[in-house]
Amino acid sequence: MGFDLVIHGGTVFTPGGPVATDVGVKDGKIAAIGPLTPGSGAQAFDATGLTVLPGLIDEQVHFREPGPTHKEDLESGTRGAALGGIVAVFEMPNTDPATTTEAAINDKIARATGRCWTDFAFYVGASPENAEELGTLERLPGCCGVKMFMGSSTGTLLVADDENVARVLRSGSRRVTVHSEDDFRLQERAGMVAGGADVSMHPEWRDVETAVRSTQRLLSLARANHRRVHVLHVTTAEEMALLAQHKDIATVEVLPQHLTLAAPECYQRLGTLAQMNPPIREARHRDALWQALNDGVIDCIGSDHAPHTLEEKAKPYPRSPSGLTGVQTTVPVMLNHIAEGRLTLQRLVDLMSAGPARIFGIAGKGRVALGYDGDFTVVDLKAKRTITNKWIASRTGWTAFDGMAVTGWPMATIVRGHIVMRDDELLERPVGAAVRFQETL
Ligand code: DOR
Repeated sequence: MGFDLVIHGGTVFTPGGPVATDVGVKDGKIAAIGPLTPGSGAQAFDATGLTVLPGLIDEQVHFREPGPTHKEDLESGTRGAALGGIVAVFEMPNTDPATTTEAAINDKIARATGRCWTDFAFYVGASPENAEELGTLERLPGCCGVKMFMGSSTGTLLVADDENVARVLRSGSRRVTVHSEDDFRLQERAGMVAGGADVSMHPEWRDVETAVRSTQRLLSLARANHRRVHVLHVTTAEEMALLAQHKDIATVEVLPQHLTLAAPECYQRLGTLAQMNPPIREARHRDALWQALNDGVIDCIGSDHAPHTLEEKAKPYPRSPSGLTGVQTTVPVMLNHIAEGRLTLQRLVDLMSAGPARIFGIAGKGRVALGYDGDFTVVDLKAKRTITNKWIASRTGWTAFDGMAVTGWPMATIVRGHIVMRDDELLERPVGAAVRFQETL
């Protein structure tokens, strides 16, 4: 058989674990797993010494298009993703205008086509105005599901009260993705920082109770309305204990920044560059996230890539916007955690490939198996590099991990058989297409 691409000589992460074997890709799909001659492919990729993972997926990014594209756009955002070893991104609806209608989803797909370096899907934002339409909107091609903000953050999207949260949960059947902070408590406590404060007050204002209260409300409403939810960027020990009791209806995402940084050190060192919602908290919470990760409570890792320019971030707190870049740094930061013994590579594949596929019902991604998309993240587990701002493709040009020495690096990103990144260089062209989802969901 003539393959379009043969990846040979590497260690391939099959569903059964790592195997020294080769993979053939034909027409964008995996067509053979086993010993192959490099010459049987129109293109050969020598993966000797490298580990070939199923393509890693980032199910939470903010790319700002349409709207404040001086921070990011779909091209620059997916460029960073490809350079960081990510094969597909799910993009958030808090753009300007917010993605709350069929026209807005279709506009994003039209803008993305021909300009994205990775595959993509878009969330539809929940609002009290579109609640009854969400069941239809969530099934549009290229839509990965509903995103609901229970606490206000960047942008205008908000579904704060139980009655409206319940309306959203009753509309449709796919898993609802949620930013869980209690907006009533946020507003009550806003006075703590409103007149100006040190950024280390951010986790005081948006405190543990703010997160726990919202997640408690969400879980009881999800149960009452028989709806599955996906709780994003969980930050507290208390929520992890709660979520462990609700695994039948709630999946859980954490972020590399919450697993890696801790208060108060991050605010002293990084100032508002560490400001995000929900906040980075003290080490006891970080430890609890690692415990939950290794106990299986956590289902996936996303970046919550939320770019703001350095100039915007330099405004005095709390006028400084919340959010960190991350789509490009997730893989090296997590590989470094593997090198330091905090999780296994098998678990990272579960969290960043199989996990998103299972949570969102992705069709044809999430494992190296015949008939699946020819998506691969090829990594060098031994490579020693330093993450720098210079490497960052985001229009904002910064990362909170600037200067971090890591062991482990993404060496190539392969999207449906196209090698879009190799050795820190982009290749070919922006081949990204809309992610497909299982039709019966
Ligand atoms: O810190 C954040 N930034 N949290 C969010 O929920 C939104 C994001 C953004 O879009 O800037």
